[in-house]
Amino acid sequence: MSYGPSEQPPAKITAPDLRAMKGERKIVMVTAYDYPTARAVAAAGLEAILVGDSLGMIVLGYESTVPVTLEDMLHHTKAVVRGAGQVHVVADLPFMSYQVSDEQAVASAGRLIKEGGADAVKLEGGVSMASKISAIVRAGIPVMAHIGLTPQSAAALGGFKVQGRSLEAALALIDDALAVEQAGAYSVVLEAVPRRLGQIISGRLTVPTIGIGAGVECDGQVLVNGDLLGLFDRFTPKFAKQYAHLSAVMTEAFQTFAAEVRAGDFPADEHGFAIPSAVLRQLEAEL
Ligand code: KIV
Repeated sequence: MSYGPSEQPPAKITAPDLRAMKGERKIVMVTAYDYPTARAVAAAGLEAILVGDSLGMIVLGYESTVPVTLEDMLHHTKAVVRGAGQVHVVADLPFMSYQVSDEQAVASAGRLIKEGGADAVKLEGGVSMASKISAIVRAGIPVMAHIGLTPQSAAALGGFKVQGRSLEAALALIDDALAVEQAGAYSVVLEAVPRRLGQIISGRLTVPTIGIGAGVECDGQVLVNGDLLGLFDRFTPKFAKQYAHLSAVMTEAFQTFAAEVRAGDFPADEHGFAIPSAVLRQLEAEL
């Protein structure tokens, strides 16, 4: 894209911009892991892209997010940033890239910003992760928190289950939300919590909540692109809505391609290149 002498490129959406949207308009975020998807999200005018560690399941074929490395996240974050334009890009800190110490958390977050080009990082956990959030924020890096169902600790949570259904669990989740806000998070992803609890937490926080299976009262919504686009057919969570069925579209296109190749219908003349007839005559004379 080129800009005239007096034109400015559209301004990047920042963490303070997203924070200011609370109560004004809904934040719409989707995951992306590559350049073409980031371009499509930018063209659609969404506010934020999450380079989620769901990468592990959606793109890399793992059973969970646990095997995803910081190098994997950097590789995909760089591709997304190149296509994201003004869209705010949040990169996930993968499992064991921040849990060990505050120092490790700052160093890993710093790499996602400095090498990956992300605008912010996201990490999972509430009260227990507050010191990591504070340390990263003190280093000048915006942090999006993620509480409720936190897939990196699904084993400890007993699986991919709705969180906050008992009184004790609901109160603990409210404590988590307040702790991450207090630690300096500029927004909070709320995953798989009852709608009413999502509403209560959204009402208690001054920073926006971005829900995924947490009800319509959250300040924004996020979906995993594989679920939204119908690209990932191994498992679709109850809270995901499929807006397209791209997996079926891809299979059909590959089948048609294969059938045309086998029948000799592809490539047609318009897909090839001609040699000048004089050169062809000379070549044939040589053979
Ligand atoms: O990794 C991811 O895609 C996420 C979303 C589920 C919010 O963290």
